[in-house]
Amino acid sequence: MADETARAEAEGQVAEVAAPATANPNSPYAWPKESRLLSTRVNRIDGTLKVAGKAKYSYDMQRPGMLYARILRSPHPHARVVSVDLGPARAMRGVKAALTIVQPGAKVMYVGDEVAAVAATSEDIARDAIRAITVRYEVLPFLATVEQALRPEAPAVFEGGNVKESQVEEEGNLQAGFAAAAHIVEQAYNTQVQTHVSLETHGCVCEWDGDKLTAWASTQAVHGTREGFATSLEIPQANVRVITEHMGGGFGSKFGPDVQGVTCAKLAREAKAPVHLLLDRREEHLASGNRPSAYARIKAGVSADGMLTAFDGETWGTGGAGAASGFPLPYIYAFPNRRRVHKDVYINAGQQRAMRAPGHPQGCFITEMLMDELADRVKMDPIEFRIRNLPPQAPNAMWREYFKIGAQRFGWDKRHATGDQAPGPIKRGMGCAANRWGGGGRGTQAQCEILPDGGVVMRCGTQDLGVGTRTLMAIITAETLGLPVSAIKVELGDSNLPFSGGSGGSTTAPAVSPAIRVTASKALQELAGRVAPALGVPADQITASDGRVHVKGDPSRGLSWADACRRLQTTPISVNGQWEAGLSASGTSGVQFAEVEVDVETGVAKVSRILCVQDCGLVVNQLAAESQCIGAMIMGVGYALYEDRILDRNTATMVNPNMEWYLVPGMSDVPAIDIMLMNQPERGVIGIGEPPTISTAAAIANAVANAIGVRVRSIPITPQKVLAALDGERAGGTL
Ligand code: MOS
Repeated sequence: MADETARAEAEGQVAEVAAPATANPNSPYAWPKESRLLSTRVNRIDGTLKVAGKAKYSYDMQRPGMLYARILRSPHPHARVVSVDLGPARAMRGVKAALTIVQPGAKVMYVGDEVAAVAATSEDIARDAIRAITVRYEVLPFLATVEQALRPEAPAVFEGGNVKESQVEEEGNLQAGFAAAAHIVEQAYNTQVQTHVSLETHGCVCEWDGDKLTAWASTQAVHGTREGFATSLEIPQANVRVITEHMGGGFGSKFGPDVQGVTCAKLAREAKAPVHLLLDRREEHLASGNRPSAYARIKAGVSADGMLTAFDGETWGTGGAGAASGFPLPYIYAFPNRRRVHKDVYINAGQQRAMRAPGHPQGCFITEMLMDELADRVKMDPIEFRIRNLPPQAPNAMWREYFKIGAQRFGWDKRHATGDQAPGPIKRGMGCAANRWGGGGRGTQAQCEILPDGGVVMRCGTQDLGVGTRTLMAIITAETLGLPVSAIKVELGDSNLPFSGGSGGSTTAPAVSPAIRVTASKALQELAGRVAPALGVPADQITASDGRVHVKGDPSRGLSWADACRRLQTTPISVNGQWEAGLSASGTSGVQFAEVEVDVETGVAKVSRILCVQDCGLVVNQLAAESQCIGAMIMGVGYALYEDRILDRNTATMVNPNMEWYLVPGMSDVPAIDIMLMNQPERGVIGIGEPPTISTAAAIANAVANAIGVRVRSIPITPQKVLAALDGERAGGTL
């Protein structure tokens, strides 16, 4: 797991942006003022492996004698398990192990909840075998929708109630705020349940050697998963090794070993053979987490001169069976008088998990829609209106500036008044939205070896979720040692390597980068000590650049890297180092702009362009940081227009648990993407994984309203919702 701050951030519980730390220019390890590699565009060092299909993901692991496991899942949304008979499954040819996950007497809480599992010599046999398990259920009343759960006559499904009301958040004087308002907007907004859709599904391959377990797991935290296995299996952490060589995404849903991981390890122990247990796409949608839904009923006031005066919000949402659904609201903008109450509503569906900037896309969508509606009331340009109501500018709060440069780059002056008057069915419009995030990290350790033949190995037990961490480690090592990126061998994704925290809360780059910088610097100091006698200067007068180890300020007085390393004779340099303060920081800000085309005859909305203006402190790899923005915004397009976990209201069964009907953007849905990365080298490294996904849906939804002259206040903005909104408008509704 990530550290406490990261976890709180990941759960959307940090109400304020963490105090911005700034890098310390006096740190002995300070980032170089003139860098060769930092902030340039460096290709992934494992890119060739990946495009050639040679990178081995956990899913691809093959071990001698490996078995395949499948999990039997509940077909009922709510039931008590009366009995489980594994006998018929165990008796099948090829079945090597079977176990019960839910003990008789206990309950299953949603369709897809784990009941039992088997391991067999083939995946087909395992699938047949779970069908042979006989389970008797006592079927219980269930809740399939938020509306059902909120009814007074709803059956009591969850201990302690189906609804959990939060503390009231309050500030200022609401009554006075509304009294000062010239206009009041009262509206309702809603966001859907979104699933993570990591391309690589959850799970692992487990293998025992005596009492030692090795797990090749698809995880965002190799060390956290080691701890999870040790705790669940009651074995020492020293007996567990977790390896994640390559990974196909997690987005917040892959921190511990999970039910399937522990099940896999137990099956492998029973069968005395390696076991492969990775989920299929249906299981992935049902049981591996999601972004909870959000509903909001808001009353907000604005003064005649366009200042926000009051915000009164009642919100609710569902994180599924007994899980929370909180999100920050109002988001970013300064409402001097405000009140907010939130209710977690439980239904019989798979539980929420942290998902890329947990809570923020919901809070952003609701607030940014409201901001446009308030701007309309005072007939003010949405950007001018936003700028007027932003908190004070700071290094982690640069929205004012970003709105201005973004508007210019995007051509905001060409935005027409709301409701495109152009003839024909295609209406165009523009919208915008802002975001904030923490993105600080700490606590990572690393080890660097310099070998007598000149080789350099940098080791760190972090994991590369697919974002380019391996390359980031190589860049920083190469920069520090004055070598090309290709000269560095990187080892990561293994709990036997030096400790690093989980990759959550955009903490990886700010936790790992300083550790690598410190460790590589220490290794260089040691090498300098070995060559100092030959150069006739003290070690602290020696540096490395351009493949040479030389006297500072005089590259001609030195040795080639290879000659310097030869002086090590037979003993490599091996140093350990760790994260230090002063090289990374926390607190990002960004804004996004979207342009859409909406066909008012079919209701189909399409995003034509998006611009993201985003900072993340010192950019380590321009290419990887832009790539994070691109992926995040494509995810935001899906959130705005397509993705929706649809439960049948009569059976609480997900009707689209696949990638045919759970729609994620395809290539033809991806707009032209423009990115302005605002480099803040003086702040040190800050994470960027999450912030660029926050504002995309809000900007798109505002652009749709600007295009068609009527607001769709619920995402995904499907053709049906667009047509219904247009019909409502014709019937006399108001914008
Ligand atoms: Mo994240 S949603 O903290 O991986």
